Amino acid sequence: TLVYVLNGPNLNLLGTREPEIYGSNTLADIEAGLHEQAKGLGLAIDFRQTNHEGQLVDWLHEANREGAKAILLNAAAYTHTSIALLDAIKAIDVPVIEVHLSDPTKREEFRHTSYVGMAAVDCVQGLGARSYSVALEKAGSL
Ligand code: DQA
Repeated sequence: TLVYVLNGPNLNLLGTREPEIYGSNTLADIEAGLHEQAKGLGLAIDFRQTNHEGQLVDWLHEANREGAKAILLNAAAYTHTSIALLDAIKAIDVPVIEVHLSDPTKREEFRHTSYVGMAAVDCVQGLGARSYSVALEKAGSL
């Protein structure tokens, strides 16, 4: 059973990027932890990162074609800007769980709108790297 874990712009810099906000785990650390957890849940994960909006759209379509069980999506800054991602999530059958390390609702006003959240089935945010593991657990029980 396949779960896609899609990460957007600047998340490749986790570990050194604003660690006071995002923590000191790298994206590779998060990926390793999720693979471990997925095994226990009887899931397989396909974990990816891109800095490009259209690539995220293509991967959402791909997850749908492949019949993935769920998608965890940390669209990073595109969360707050991308109608293309909102439309893609609406266009596919695979449920999307929105994920954020920080809690965007407690930060700048421009992070308070989530286009992803308008179509996602659930959201886990503000728990640091643990947001991903809580989201994976939710995906397992969808
Ligand atoms: C983020 C929150 C976004 O507002 C920000 O643009 C990011 C990371 C998070 O995981 O906390 O790049 O998605």
